[in-house]
Amino acid sequence: MDVIVAGDRAELAKARESLGGGSIALVPTMGALHEGHRSLIRLAREHADHVVVSVFVNPLQFGPAEDFSRYPRTFDADLEACAEEGVEIVFAPSAEDMYPPDRQVSISAGGMGTVVEGAFRPGHFDGVLTVVLKLLNLVRPDVAIFGQKDAQQLALIRRMAADLNVPVSIVAAPTFREPDGLALSSRNRYLSAADRATALALSRALRAGAARETPGEILAAARAVLDEAARLDPPLLLDYVVLADPATFAPVAEDHSGEAVLAVAARVGSTRLIDNAVLRLS
Ligand code: PAJ
Repeated sequence: MDVIVAGDRAELAKARESLGGGSIALVPTMGALHEGHRSLIRLAREHADHVVVSVFVNPLQFGPAEDFSRYPRTFDADLEACAEEGVEIVFAPSAEDMYPPDRQVSISAGGMGTVVEGAFRPGHFDGVLTVVLKLLNLVRPDVAIFGQKDAQQLALIRRMAADLNVPVSIVAAPTFREPDGLALSSRNRYLSAADRATALALSRALRAGAARETPGEILAAARAVLDEAARLDPPLLLDYVVLADPATFAPVAEDHSGEAVLAVAARVGSTRLIDNAVLRLS
């Protein structure tokens, strides 16, 4: 079956109707689809009868100095990838359709949206949650799939679903990596070969941390790798490295046991990258 492209809310409603019965899984994306996105689509297929992918570069989640206008837009290739993966509907609305000029109400991510990644990107998670709730309300999926790659986004979406009683089950997909460890990201295409070599320090730092036992040792091992990468050409410019509770993103105490997420963000050249690893501390 060919993939149906729904370019606005009305077309989405019609396309959704044409599916008939069966369960629906939604994979929200901003397009520029790569193998990481495709792994989410494949996971979606395991969880529902029909898969809907949304492709929408959400202006609300970009800060004024961020890369909204130069964010990669590769719609034809995205459509082909979706067709190859057996996606039934691609929902690709315009900004005008998603955000009519008279809109007023939006979602606040609360305090959890202002820490770690949120401290570097004010308003980002409010914009993410607002668009995700809108997409869930429009598509009304049974399941929605999000990547562990954006660990704080995932935690906040789970929080929103719980706090606002959103009738959807949230499924996490593992981070898809290149063989050398680099986590796939739509922004990787901005990296030169030299940038990319420096960028490998993110996943290397996570592996160094994961090999240690206590929060102090884990952070010290990760920092050592990142400090070394700060001396490369081009240098890695660290925004943060934290060991946090995966549900709240509060820093874990030295005697913490159970899961903890080692999360890192850094700039290389003009590209900002994030990565994380979920560790189990005993
Ligand atoms: P985007 O960056 O396009 O990512 C879409 C989904 O793919 C997210 O759930 C993200 O975590 C997941 N993803 C990205 N890279 C991945 C990788 N290497 N491995 C596994 N999953 C990966 O995240 C967004 O868009 C937006 O914030 C969105 C949720 C669509 C709201 O606008």
